[in-house]
Amino acid sequence: MTNDNSNAMWGGRFAAGPDAIMEAINASIGFDQRLASQDIQGSCAHAAMLAAQGIITDSDAQAIREGLLTILSEIERGEFAFSATLEDIHMNVEGRLKELIGEPAGRLHTARSRNDQVATDFRLWVRDQTDAAGEALAALSRALVAQAGAGADWVMPGFTHLQVAQPVTWGHHMLAYVEMFARDRARFADARARMNESPLGAAALAGTSFAIDREMTAVALGFDRPCANSLDAVSDRDFALEFLGAASIAAMHLSRLAEELVIWSSAQFRFVTMSDRFSTGSSIMPQKKNPDAAELIRAKIGRIVGAQVALLTVMKGLPLTYSKDMQEDKEQVFDAADALMLALAAMTGMVRDMTANVAEMEAAAGSGFSTATDLADWLVRELGLPFREAHHVTGALVAMAEGNGCDLPDLTLADMQSVHSGIGEAVFEVLGVHNSVASRVSLGGTAPMLVRQQVARWEEELG
Ligand code: ARG
Repeated sequence: MTNDNSNAMWGGRFAAGPDAIMEAINASIGFDQRLASQDIQGSCAHAAMLAAQGIITDSDAQAIREGLLTILSEIERGEFAFSATLEDIHMNVEGRLKELIGEPAGRLHTARSRNDQVATDFRLWVRDQTDAAGEALAALSRALVAQAGAGADWVMPGFTHLQVAQPVTWGHHMLAYVEMFARDRARFADARARMNESPLGAAALAGTSFAIDREMTAVALGFDRPCANSLDAVSDRDFALEFLGAASIAAMHLSRLAEELVIWSSAQFRFVTMSDRFSTGSSIMPQKKNPDAAELIRAKIGRIVGAQVALLTVMKGLPLTYSKDMQEDKEQVFDAADALMLALAAMTGMVRDMTANVAEMEAAAGSGFSTATDLADWLVRELGLPFREAHHVTGALVAMAEGNGCDLPDLTLADMQSVHSGIGEAVFEVLGVHNSVASRVSLGGTAPMLVRQQVARWEEELG
């Protein structure tokens, strides 16, 4: 006889129920209820397979299915009473099924364990998030491509070391991020292909003596195939780690873009004006308009990378197969996925709504002797100077301009000729920022013509 206080699902050999602290450390229902719909989907597929294989009767499978769908709607309507005594989502659902349909509920767990069940549920959940992340990245990329199309020939300073380096186009800068987010999409897609194998039917760890059909449940759940090794199936969490890896890199990209928006929207730069919809005010300084959303996006990587480190640390050194340590896999992944999706949505809104200050950017693009390389290249091309000598001559001209407190295009022809007699009037053409960017037509360069081609390519790819 089972003691009344012991667990209804596994209490057969127990004389007493768990200590309150035991229940507190053991229960996962507080968070794994997020797996409810995946759990029910998995159980429906399992029950249908058991019936198709003659392991349970069709009428039992039918009762189980109807009961599970009732539970799903109870959960969706917020009417389900989750119980910590029943530990986790799997036993909460099964416990309620027993209340609803009685004896057939006890047949659902034939040829199955919570080990393959949770591995299946969690894969389904991570797979959904992987798809959602890909879509959100595509939406952000579309917003960036729209900005790039509008500003294919707006000129801004390009930086190295955050020092003005050479003029670039706004469109080119936007499209640099589109490249990054395309790699992120590809990483999520790769991870999805690898994770899309079904653990269901691995049972506790060794498989089962029942004549189950793992292909059938795999197909029903949208998996490409069953996992080939039952031990691996129940103990693998690579799918979650790969998701977090892809999420970490995407979050790093978001953080870099966020940082640029913080810098660009400052009073010192004024390259962009963020919309009011994505800014906040200060409670003390009435003039302030703060880029809080960008700052929060910049910070989200902390929890996302933290989740990856936490899960790697949980998994390292775990002997095969399942250990309860693995219950610690979920909260981190849930939190990281939420953070990534929120950051992507906020960034998409900000990029869509922001206004580039074209005149400010153009003025800044001409500052800091940004066309010095154009001048050196001109000396090589037109006067046949070796590049090293051209570099030296240009350096002398920069020093002269700096001494005069002016920019390169403000030097007179006589100034120029005092440094190198061969320089002619035509040099002034390459000192303008528009000519500078238009001349950078090498593959992958910043020229507006190339930016327009890339915008067309991305519009085609992103739809
Ligand atoms: N709540 C558990 C988890 O999240 C489900 C699997 C429990 N398996 C077991 N053998 N106790 O990992």
